[in-house]
Order: sequence, then C-alpha cells, then structure tokens
Amino acid sequence: MDIRSKFLEFFSSKGHQVYASMPLVPEDNSLLFTNAGMVQFKDVFTGEIPAPQTPRATSSQLCMRAGGKHNDLENVGYTARHHTLFEMLGNFSFGDYFKEQAIAYAWEFVTEVLGFDKSVLYVTVHQSDDEAFEIWSKHIDPQRIKRLGDKDNFWQMGDTGPCGPCSEIFVDQGAEHFCGSEDYFGGDGDRFLEIWNLVFMQYQRDALGNLTPLPKPSIDTGMGLERVVALLEGKRSNFDSSIFMPLIQKVASICGKPYHYDKGASYRVIADHARSVAFLLAQGVHFDKEGRGYVLRRILRRAVRHGYLLGIKEPFLFEIIQEVCLQMGGIYPYLLERQNIMIQECKNEEERFFETLESGMQLFNKELSQTSVIFSGEVAFKLYDTYGFPLDLTLDMLRDRNLEIDMQTFDQCMSKQKEMARASWKGSGGEFKGGDLGNVTQITQENSYLEQPCYTQSKITMAFDENFRQITEILEGQKGWIVLDNNPFYPQGGGAIGDSGWFFTRDQLAADVLDSRKYAEITLNQVLAHCDLKVGDSLEARVDTMRQKEIAKHHSGTHLLHSALRDLLGEQVAQAGSLVENHRLRFDFTFSRALTSFELQDLQDRVNTLIATCIPMQTQETSLDEAKKQGAIALFSEKYADKVRVVQFGDVSCELCGGIHIANSGEIGSFYILKESGVSSGVRRIEAVCGESAYLYAKNLILEMATLKEQLKTQDLSASIQKLTEENKRLKKMGQNQASLDFEIQKIGDASVIIAETKENGKEIIDQLKNQNDKIAILLFQQTEDKVSFVAGVKNLPLKAGIWVKEIAQVVGGNGGGRDDFATAGGKDTHRLQEALQKAQMYADQILKGE
Ligand code: SER
Repeated sequence: MDIRSKFLEFFSSKGHQVYASMPLVPEDNSLLFTNAGMVQFKDVFTGEIPAPQTPRATSSQLCMRAGGKHNDLENVGYTARHHTLFEMLGNFSFGDYFKEQAIAYAWEFVTEVLGFDKSVLYVTVHQSDDEAFEIWSKHIDPQRIKRLGDKDNFWQMGDTGPCGPCSEIFVDQGAEHFCGSEDYFGGDGDRFLEIWNLVFMQYQRDALGNLTPLPKPSIDTGMGLERVVALLEGKRSNFDSSIFMPLIQKVASICGKPYHYDKGASYRVIADHARSVAFLLAQGVHFDKEGRGYVLRRILRRAVRHGYLLGIKEPFLFEIIQEVCLQMGGIYPYLLERQNIMIQECKNEEERFFETLESGMQLFNKELSQTSVIFSGEVAFKLYDTYGFPLDLTLDMLRDRNLEIDMQTFDQCMSKQKEMARASWKGSGGEFKGGDLGNVTQITQENSYLEQPCYTQSKITMAFDENFRQITEILEGQKGWIVLDNNPFYPQGGGAIGDSGWFFTRDQLAADVLDSRKYAEITLNQVLAHCDLKVGDSLEARVDTMRQKEIAKHHSGTHLLHSALRDLLGEQVAQAGSLVENHRLRFDFTFSRALTSFELQDLQDRVNTLIATCIPMQTQETSLDEAKKQGAIALFSEKYADKVRVVQFGDVSCELCGGIHIANSGEIGSFYILKESGVSSGVRRIEAVCGESAYLYAKNLILEMATLKEQLKTQDLSASIQKLTEENKRLKKMGQNQASLDFEIQKIGDASVIIAETKENGKEIIDQLKNQNDKIAILLFQQTEDKVSFVAGVKNLPLKAGIWVKEIAQVVGGNGGGRDDFATAGGKDTHRLQEALQKAQMYADQILKGE
C-alpha cells in the first residue's frame, strides 16, 4: 500500500476525519499559495469558525512553496529535498489532544508503520520547550534530542496567522554519501533528513507581530511525502525515488543525454517544475504578468531554460506534464480531465519563451563583452525577470569566466519586484478580517432567495467607516458598513454580486444598501446613510428583490452556459472565473482558440433551448464526496465545507454552488451572447445577458432596426442596403469619371475638339466622351520618362484618327495607326512632345476648318 494511504488510514483508525487536499490557491487570498496542510484549517485554529464535530483531522495536502513566504524555488534541483510542489501528510487536533498524544502517534507511525529503526531517528524541540523534551525522552534516548531556537523550531503559516513552537523528527541516512560540512545533526546538509514537523499551535500572530494565545492549544503536523518515499526506497535524494525518476528519464529521452546525479540539476529542475506547472494549470491558474500567474510563468521559464541548457531547442515541458498526468491522474483525476487543455496552454507558453530565450542569450553575451570584473546587477536582474534566467544560472555562466554579479543592485531590483508582486495579490479582498468582527452573532439565511425573507426587523450591532475602522455612528450623507443582528441580504460570493436594498425607520428611508459582503460568516452591508445611523438603532431592512431576481437569473444562466459549453466543446472546458451581476454575466473558461460565429450561435441556441424546456431547479445538501459521485462540478477556486450545496437543473447541470438561483430555468426568459473574447493564454470569455437585460437588449435591437427601416423607407433592410451599396459604388465611379472628363473643349464649327493629357484609361474616356457628344475629335496623351503615347477617337467628323496619330507619331520618333474612329500611337522622343501636340492641333484645324 502506498505511504499516502497508510498515513491516512493510520490516523483514520485513531479517530481522525480524512479531508481532501484543498486548492493550491486559497479562496480568501490570505496566502499566495497553500503552503501547508494546516491552511485549510487555519480559521478553525484561530476560532474564527467553530471546530468540526470530529475535532481531529488528517489529510494529504498538495503544497506550493514558490514565490510566497515559504519560497524554495531557487534551491530546487540543487538539493536533495527541496521542491516547489509537494504533498504534505498531516494530522490535526482542534483543541483535542496536544503534545503528549501527537508525539506518541508520530512515534508509532514512524517506527511501527514506516518501520524506521530507532537507531536512525533523532528529534529537535524548541529551546524553551521542556515539556516536549520530557515527552520525547520517554520514547528516545535524550542524547538524540536537540534544542533549537526560533529559526528551526518555531513554525508560522505566513506573516500573520496561527503559529507555535515545533518539534521535528530526523532520519540519519548514514555517512556514506554525505560528507559535507553541513552534514551533522541540526545542520543544513542532506544526511540528517527532517521528515516530520509537529507544530504545537498555540498562538495567533497579528500584522504587528504580536502573539495572542489561541482559544485552544492545537496540533498541526506535516510530513513530506516525497522524502519519506525516497527514504523507504533507500534513495539518497527525493529525485532518485519512483516519484521523480520517470520524469527525469523522460527528460533524458527528449534531450538524448543520460542522467547522472552529479551533473543532473537541470533534469531535476524540469522534473520538479513540470509537477508544479501541471497542478497549477489543472487548478485554474494561468500564465500571467503578475500575481500567481506570474509565479507560474517563472516556474515554466526556469524549467525551459534548463531544457535549453540540455540542448533542447523547442517546446518539451508539455511532454513531461503528460507524464505527470499519467503518474498522478489516479489520485488526482482532474489532471487527466484537463490534460489536453493544459498541454496546449503549456506548449503555447513554451513557444513564446523560446522566442525570448535567444534574445536573453544575446543580451547576456552583449553585457559579457562589456564586462571586465563585475557583471551588471541590473542586466542580471533583467535576465532573471524578463528572460527567465534564474540567478544561479547566470552565476554559473559567469563562474567559468571568473566574473561576479553586482549583487547589491540585483537585490535592490529583486526587492522592488517582490514588493510589486506582493502588492499585486495583496489587497484583493483581504483587507478586512473576520477577527475584526469580535464575537458578533447574526441570524442569516443561507438558502436560495426563495426561502429567504426579503425584509426583516433588525438592529444595527456594529458599524465601520469606509476604511473598515470601527465606529459607533454613520452620519447622514456618509458611506460605511453595517452589521445587522438579523440579515435578509444575500452577500457577494461565488462570482455573484451582493444584494442591495434599503433601510427604513418608521416608514422613512434611512439608508440605501449599496452592497452586501460576507466576512467570517457575518454579512456586512455597505450603506449610504440618509439619516444618522447608530449602533443599537432598530430598523426595517428591505432587499431590492427585483434586482436580486435578476442576479438569480444570470446565476442560473451561467450554470446552463457552462453545461452547454461542455456539451459543445468537450469536457475539457473548465470554469476559469465568473461574474454574475443583475444585468449581465461574464464567464471565463479554458479553451485554446476563439469560438467561431457558428459555434457561438449554436451555444446561444443550446442555452435558449434549456431555458424553453422549463427545467425545475433543485438544491440538495450533501457531503462533497456524495456530490462528486453525482457528477457535480466542483471548482478549484472554491473552498468547500463538510456539507456542500448542489444546484441541479434536471440532468443538464449539476454544480456545487452556494448562490441564488431561480426556481425554474424558464424564468431566465432568454439568453443572448454579447461578446466572446480572449482573457489570457488558453482562457476565453463570454459575456451574455439574461432576463430583463436580455429583453432590453433584444428590444433595443428591434427599435434600432425599426428606426433604420423608417429612415430608409423600406421593410426589407437587407435588399435596401444592397441597393444603397451598389448605388454608392456607381456614384463613386461616376464621380471619378466626371473628374476625368473635365477637359478643355475647343469648338471648331459645330465640332468639339479635345487635345489633353490624361493619367487614366484613355480608351474608356474616349468612349464616354463619344457617348456624350455628337461630333467630337479627341487626342489624349500620356508621358513617362522614356515614352509618350497617344490615343485618338473621332465621331461624325471628317478627321481620321488613324492618320491623325500617324502624323504626330513621326514627330516623337515612333509610329502608330488604327481605324478612322479610334487609333493609338507612341514614340520615344519625349522632348518633342510639344512639337507633336502643335502638329496635332494644326492637323485638326486644317481638316475641320478646311484651312
Ligand atoms: N505547518 C507545519 C509545516 O508546514 C506542519 O504541518 O511544516
């Protein structure tokens, strides 16, 4: 049996509830990435949400340590044990057992289930933790226990959040392969490998660094799955284990060079990074210029750069990703489900980077040719940041030449960039923490709007200004946030905007409710006060039910669109973002190309058919597993509780969703697609309208058509437009002709004579002039650098065109001729043109005047 299952079964047999791995991107944005197994329980540790009925939990959690507080990216490939993505096995106690039991469980699992010999085990405890030291002494020789300080034995999730002293279990791998100066117990070498960290969760760290005791001391442990697998397989590096070797072998077969551990950093980087890229893409993170998508891009670029070092000159990482899907798809089926789209996305991104890789090398070489001692820190940073050259790679390339990098400038650029990266994901919803709400309670309805009252008699229990500073009163004319003891408003969530409405006191409008948001289970209302609103005031809260219903229509419309998209384009279409408003919806999904207009029509038809079929909506509360068994679509950006709500439209759509929906698809009315566009690489967006907005959209289009018909005085717009277009073309042409017919006309008797230059088609002009005149003789000439040419036309006159042009052609050293009514000529003596024209005039005069 694999280690993952052994671990979960062991703790399950000890009364722990098994939890699935939460998404790598935490829903509340409190972290860049989920970096430990405890993240899905952090609000339970702090007491923000009550502990589950079973106060013991266990999980195998996918963790990312790249780009955030816990960042291992730069080390990966160069040590035996660092990874950007790994699985953390953990057991958790929420105020239930503490140190004694946690240590006993860990010892039993390590020695009895994993079977490690006690002679290879060591532990560390926090220097101040006598209690842990004593407990451990019951299991292990005290000589093997080391006390270490905060750096090694104090664990915290991020800059803020739950934390506490910890105790780590180490396995001595023996001296044979390890001889570095760091390879002593407690050092940084690889010989003594830390496999399990037991955190005694006791504090909550706030933004100022203050530690407040948690409501109940708790346990959070984390054991690196990859390390344990490697140890049990007798490998000295995680990369030599059965988890990474298939990936490394794949790299070797692509580059055609066998893998050797000592020179294998590039292979290891690629194997590690392929896993991260695969899971991030599968969980809905996309390559981007900032935030998480930017970390993903950096990981891919680092891998591709290492492929380039191995001599690979074209996209290859997508093939390693395929291998990851194959290997991990049994445990994480969504990898297989989204494989095709991920591979396409990865390949596109690789192609783009291969384009800049060469220019990066050029920049490097150019700078190198100008460097004598210190390589520019700015250029090194540019290589790192823009072209994806990791610093250690640039350093390697310089090392051979005995050059160093101006690290001070590099670090300055790096911290500036880090600040920007942090700023780009902070502040996106995390400004206000549930903890700020103290112990406030609220009656609130969690069901669809159908079951939720649209007005309540309520009292204001808390008030905040616009910057979320707590106040006691919102003055008339000001905006702020209110907490009601009894809340009828449905808060923003799952992509849907929050309810708006009004407060009334004694039938007078007291405030407009502009928005409703949820923080730690409490709904806050953003208000614009029309009179002073004080904490303790009683009022009647009324929801804008018309607006709420329109939100519901767009929400249900979104579910039907999602289902129709999957029907039309395949199951690989995955939701990548959604916005549900009262007057429109926006739905982002993974797909590698733009939809054709035919597909868009088809999609719109499908959704409207589902609407017209009037399918009743059903909701059901069940466990996540049960919901998945029923085929419910779960989203990676969402965090699901023990009980989930399934929203279903017959057998057409089944999604996990906590939002407001209409009772029957027929209520949506109709659905129109406004626009389809690209959001980022591999992600498309559809904007559409339902309900009243759909009606207004269609109505306005019809009105526009009616106005056009009236303006054009027609019932058949299409025929009229075609007629107008043709008419327009004809007029344009006539305009041109008119311009070209604008010649000076001589009158000789009743004959019209034209002798003139033209740049246009002389024959056409002559035909038109003949059509418009009864008696006419025309001679048109065109002159280029080395040639002059003539055309002549005559109608109803004794002048013969053929003779006319022949006469003058002789002057310009050429010849010509033709019929009496039409003739052409040309010659090379362009400097004698004037003479030729004079002769033409004379000849015409002679014939027509009889001179
Ligand atoms: N949170 C601790 C860690 O990540 C133990 O799970 O090491």
